[in-house]
Amino acid sequence: MNTKFETITLEQNGDFATLSVSREKSLNALNALVHTELKECLTLLKDDNPDNLRGLIFTGAGDKAFIAGADIVEMSSMTPEQAFNFAVLGQDVSLLFEELPFPAIACVNGFALGGGCEMAMSCDFIYATETAVFGQPEVKLGLIPGFGGTQRLAKLIGRNNAKELIYTGRNLKVDEAKELGLVVKVFATKDEMLSAATKTLEKINANSPLAVSTAKSVMNEGNDLTITEGLKVEAKHFGGIFASYDMKEGTSAFTEKRKANFKGE
Ligand code: CAA
Repeated sequence: MNTKFETITLEQNGDFATLSVSREKSLNALNALVHTELKECLTLLKDDNPDNLRGLIFTGAGDKAFIAGADIVEMSSMTPEQAFNFAVLGQDVSLLFEELPFPAIACVNGFALGGGCEMAMSCDFIYATETAVFGQPEVKLGLIPGFGGTQRLAKLIGRNNAKELIYTGRNLKVDEAKELGLVVKVFATKDEMLSAATKTLEKINANSPLAVSTAKSVMNEGNDLTITEGLKVEAKHFGGIFASYDMKEGTSAFTEKRKANFKGE
C-alpha cells in the first residue's frame, strides 16, 4: 500500500506492521495533518487490508514521547467550530483503531499525554517503557479531553480514578498506570517493548484470525451495552462462528491431536 505520508510511517514486517507518528521535534503532537493521514491509513487497513495484515503496533518516533497530546500551537487559534471538527476527526481516528479487523497494540515510549493517552486507549491494549508518563492534562490548558478521554478512561480504570486524573490533570508514572490497569506490561527499553509486542502478535496469530477479530468486535460492541444486551451479541456471534472453516478446523485438529491450520475464514 502507499506508505508515503508526511507525518506518519507504516512499515510492514511479515504479517504485522508498525505505525508511527513521526513528528519527533514536536514530541509527535497530533495536528490536523497527522489525524488526516492516520484516518486515510487506518481506513485502508480496515476496509481493504491490501497486505493482509494480522496485527498492528502503534508507537511514536524517538524515545522521548509516544504522543505529547494534540498540537497546542494549532489549537490555540481554533474557533469553536474548528475545534469541534478537530475533535470529531481525532475521534474518527480513535474509532478506526477499534474497528480494525486485527489487534492493535499501543507501544508507549515516554510521554502519552492528552490526545496521546487517548490514542493509546483506542488500541486493544497498552505496553509501555519504564519512562512512560500518562495523563489527561487538558484542564491545565483550559480545555477538556477531545479524542475520547472523557469516555474511554472511565471505562478502563473506573469513573472515580478517571475523574481524579482528569480534574487534577496530573501525570501518571508507569507503575501507577500499570496498577490502575491502563498498562498491561512494562519494559526496560523501547526495543524490548517492540519485540515483545511482535511476539504477542505472533502468539495471537497462531490462533484463528477470524475468532480473534470476532472476539475484538464483540468485546468492543459490548463495552457500550448493558450486560443483557452484550450477552445477546455474544450468543449471536458464538453461533455465527460455527459456520466458519476455522471453527471446523480448530475443533477437528483438537480431536485428531494435530496442530490447526487456520485460514481466517
Ligand atoms: N503541542 C505542540 N507542541 C508540543 C506539544 C504539544 N502538545 N508538546 C510538546 N511540544 C513541543 C514543544 O513546544 C517543544 O517545541 P520547541 O522545541 O519548538 O519549543 C518541543 O515539542 C519539545 O517540548 P518541550 O521543550 O516542552 O520538552 P520538555 O521535555 O521540556 O517537556 C512535556 C515535555 C512535559 C511533554 C511538555 O512538552 C508538555 O507539557 N507538552 C504538552 C503536554 C500537553 O499538555 N498535552 C495535552 C494537549 S491537549 C490535548 O491533547 C487535547 C485533546 O485531548 C484533544
